[in-house]
Amino acid sequence: MTGVADFEPPNISPPTRPLSILQSLRAARHNVLEIIPDVAYRQPIVSGRMIVRFHMVQDPAALRRVFLDNVDNYPKSEVMVRMLRPAVGDSLFTSEGDAWRWQRRAVAPVFAQRNVSALAPMMTATAERAAERLRQSGGRAELLGEMLSATFDVICEVALSGREHFDAETYSRAILRYFETAGKASLLDFLQVPDWIPRPEALLSLGAVGTMHRMVAQAIAARRRQASGGADDLLDYMLNAEDPVTGRRMSSTDLLHNMQFFIVAGHETTALALSWSLLLLALHPKHQNRVRKEARAVLGDRAATAEDLEAMPYLKQVIDEAMRLYPPVGMLARNVREIDILCGRRILPGDVLFLPIYALHRHHLWWEHPNRFDPGRFALKAVRSRDRYLHLPFGAGPRVCVGANFAMMQAQIILATLVARFRFDPVRGPMPVPTMSMTLRPDTGMRLAVRPLRRARR
Ligand code: HEM
Repeated sequence: MTGVADFEPPNISPPTRPLSILQSLRAARHNVLEIIPDVAYRQPIVSGRMIVRFHMVQDPAALRRVFLDNVDNYPKSEVMVRMLRPAVGDSLFTSEGDAWRWQRRAVAPVFAQRNVSALAPMMTATAERAAERLRQSGGRAELLGEMLSATFDVICEVALSGREHFDAETYSRAILRYFETAGKASLLDFLQVPDWIPRPEALLSLGAVGTMHRMVAQAIAARRRQASGGADDLLDYMLNAEDPVTGRRMSSTDLLHNMQFFIVAGHETTALALSWSLLLLALHPKHQNRVRKEARAVLGDRAATAEDLEAMPYLKQVIDEAMRLYPPVGMLARNVREIDILCGRRILPGDVLFLPIYALHRHHLWWEHPNRFDPGRFALKAVRSRDRYLHLPFGAGPRVCVGANFAMMQAQIILATLVARFRFDPVRGPMPVPTMSMTLRPDTGMRLAVRPLRRARR
C-alpha cells in the first residue's frame, strides 16, 4: 500500500519504446509528453532518427553547454519559432543574432526588479479581485480558468493600464483560438519540411492573430496619442526602451510584436504555475497548512504586496517545486550549427536537439523520488548545493526568461493571498493529466473545492 509520503501527484506513463513516426505525429498533436520515452528519465542523452537525427538532452553539464558555454552553436529551433512567429513576428523571443541582441539589451532594463516592484500594486489589486471571485464561487471552482483570468487581469493592467482601449473578452477568445490551432506543433515542422508547404494550423489561426494584433496596436496608438506623458506601466517602459549600446528604439512593429508576446506568453505560463501549485497543495494538506500559516502570519487579512514576499520563503519553495513537477514550458528545442560533443556523443549540423525540461525535472539520476512533491528541495541550502542546470523552468544563459522576476512576483502575490484566505481540497473524480502542446496544461482543467476561512487574527 502507498502511504501519504509515497504519494505521487498526476503524471503520465512514458512509452517504454520509441514511437513510430505515425505515433509521434499523433502524440505531437495530442500530448507532446508522450513523445518522451521512459529511458529519457533515466539516461543523460537519448538519440534517434525521425527522418532527421535528434537528441533528447537531460544532463546538466550538457545543458550548460547548450544554454551558455556554446550558446551560439544552438539557435532556437525553427519548429518552436514557427509556431509563434505568426503572432509575435521577430520579437525578442523569436529572433536570433543581432536582431535578438539589441532587443534583449533594450528590454532587460524594462524588467529590472525596480520596475517590476513598481508594478506590484496592480498585482495585489488583481489578487484581491481573484479572491473575491473565489469567495462567490459557491464552494467549487475551476482554478485554471480563474488563474488565467487573474494573470490576464494583471497583464492588461500592467501592460496597457486597464482595459478601456481593450476588450479583454474578445482578446482572450482570440488567444484561445490561436493556441488551439497554431499553438499545436506540426510534425511537418519537426521534420523540417520546407516552408512553402502550407501548415493547416497556421492558416486556421490567421483570424485570431489579426484580432489580437489589431487590439494591441490600438492600445499602443492610444497611448502614443496621450498628451500628458504616460501611465507608468509596462507599455510606457517599452515606449522608452532603448538599446544602451546603439541607442536604437523600438519601431511600432517591434513594440506590437513584443507586447503581444508578453500578453500571450506571460499570462498563460504564470497561470499554469499557479494552477499546478494549487493542485499540489490541495493534494498535500500538510504543506498547504504550512504555507498558509506562513502567509497568515505575515498578511493577516490583507492581500500580499511585494514587500511581504521575503518573509514567505516557503511559499516560493512551493512554486519552485510545482514548476519542477509541472514546468509551464516543458520542452525546448534547438538547431545545431556546427559539430559538437554532448555527453560524449557527436552532435552534427542539421541534427535537432530536444531539451525536455519535464524529463530533466523528473530524472531518476538527479532527483530522489523524482515524482513526489517536496518543497523542501528548494530550501536555500539544498538549492545552493545543487547544479543550477537541474531546475530550468525559465531556461538559462543569455536567453533566460526576461520576465522571470515579473512572473515570480505575480505568482507569489496571488498564491499567498489565496492560501491565506481559502482552503483548497481535491474533488471526487479523475485527476487532471499534464498535457503539453506549447505549454503544460491540465487536460481537464483544475476543479477544486474552495472553502473560505475565518479571518486571520494577528
Ligand atoms: C511562470 C511563467 C513563465 C515561464 C515558466 C517562462 C518560461 C520561459 C522560458 C523557458 C524561456 C526560454 C525559452 C528558450 O530558451 O527557448 C522564456 C523566455 C522568455 N520569456 Fe518567459 N516564462 C514565464 C513568464 C514570462 C513573462 C511573464 C514574460 C513577460 C511578460 C516572459 C517573457 C519572455 C521572453 C520575452 C522570453 C525570451 C527571452 C530571450 O530570448 O531573450 N516570460 N520564458
